[in-house]
Amino acid sequence: MSAPTVGRCGPEHVEALVRLVEQVRADEYELPGTAQVIGSLRQALAAGRPFWVALDGDEVVGCVGLDRCGGDVGVLRAMFIAAEFRAGHGVGTALLRALLDEARAEGLAEVVLDSHPCFTAAHRFYRRAGFTPLEDGDRPAGYAPTVPGNVCFRIALPR
Ligand SMILES: CC(C)(COP(=O)(O)OP(=O)(O)OC[C@H]1O[C@@H](n2cnc3c(N)ncnc32)[C@H](O)[C@@H]1OP(=O)(O)O)[C@@H](O)C(=O)NCCC(=O)NCCS
Repeated sequence: MSAPTVGRCGPEHVEALVRLVEQVRADEYELPGTAQVIGSLRQALAAGRPFWVALDGDEVVGCVGLDRCGGDVGVLRAMFIAAEFRAGHGVGTALLRALLDEARAEGLAEVVLDSHPCFTAAHRFYRRAGFTPLEDGDRPAGYAPTVPGNVCFRIALPR
């Protein structure tokens, strides 16, 4: 199996990206709150925020997006890799690198994210990449988790 390629999400990828997020969250993990997640995802896409996809041929097998919450704070949205391309293919790592490169290019001071507590492997992945837990009292102004009860992380981007 050759490694998927990572590139910017174009209009032709949007519906497949949304389906991937729904499939992993709702079908695979059976999580509540998927409608809220998809709603904020579509808002960020409609606002023209940058998203990236991992493609296996023409198929979208991974995604992530960089939203903003005001000021110089970025918000990571929708990091999802299809099950058969996880853990070892480097897809999540490549998507995260693209997102952080863009965040630095946009002059952002930090990137925050929130994630359902069940995604423990993802939390290890974020910590290894340099993210640290973001406590409720330290949340940037205007930022709230997409779904109540989600855990939050942040990474500072020194200039
Ligand atoms: C978490 C996730 C985004 C990581 O992306 P990925 O493509 O699987 O990760 P990579 O292949 O780039 O691996 C990066 C590192 O994390 C490790 N890793 C990733 N997922 C892992 C898992 N489930 N279990 C153990 N290790 C894992 C890899 O072994 C690798 O370690 P290394 O750098 O020491 O070699 C992806 O597994 C995923 O989509 N999981 C399901 C949905 C999810 O949790 N999304 C996040 C919601 S916030």
